[in-house]
Amino acid sequence: MNVIAHRGYSGCYPENTMLAFRKAVEAGCDGIELDVQLTKDGKVVIIHDETVDRTTDGTGNVRDKTLADLRTLNAAHTWGTTFPKEPIPSFEEYCEWAATVPITTNIELKTGVVYYEDIEKKTIDIITKYNLIDRVLFSSFNHCTLISAKKIAPSIPVGALVGEKGLVNAGYYCKKYGFDFYHPSYKTLNEAAVAELEKFGIGFNVWTINDMAELEKMYAWKASGLITNYPAVCRAYLKGKV
Ligand code: G3P
Ligand code: CA
Repeated sequence: MNVIAHRGYSGCYPENTMLAFRKAVEAGCDGIELDVQLTKDGKVVIIHDETVDRTTDGTGNVRDKTLADLRTLNAAHTWGTTFPKEPIPSFEEYCEWAATVPITTNIELKTGVVYYEDIEKKTIDIITKYNLIDRVLFSSFNHCTLISAKKIAPSIPVGALVGEKGLVNAGYYCKKYGFDFYHPSYKTLNEAAVAELEKFGIGFNVWTINDMAELEKMYAWKASGLITNYPAVCRAYLKGKV
């Protein structure tokens, strides 16, 4: 069962920053989940929202700013004086670092609100440049994006993110469309859904597990991965099970 740090170690550090990624590795995570979007000058950048408003000291759309514009912003802004300035990471900067640590990366392609042109190819080109093709997994709420990524790089596994109510027959759906994993919210999962996934041989990486009761339930249901804001807690729990 893999411990996947959601936006890095985002429970204790500014989300989607290199600081949160480094701290997740120190906490013993197996993988890191992060979100990518495209800048005005077509660079792949790590940020959750389509705007910079919530997570930085700036305002406006990611797609209207160049990478150089974005790098002037502080992605640790909402933490006040707790942390020094943390820039928004480029995906290239992340991959250069990820190549030096023994982790996998779940890259969520954020194409549900803005369909960024060629984001799949641009992301795969960087993954290839840093020789990370065997250590990444794509996910997206936009399943067309997953199909596009599979066409370009068939060996990279993909996970179908589903929100709101989930999908009662996700195993059948994932098998039919060639999605390797199902990525449900823990709120939507139940025993019947887990049994259906097992029937079709589809693993599931569940989000966002920040609660002991849910952690125990996912352990019992043999989740493939736990996407969590608190990787140290999940790691300690799993160590206690060995
Ligand atoms: O990948 C799981 C989770 O990150 C999906 O939701 O909004 O946190 O990107 P969100
Ligand atoms: Ca995400």
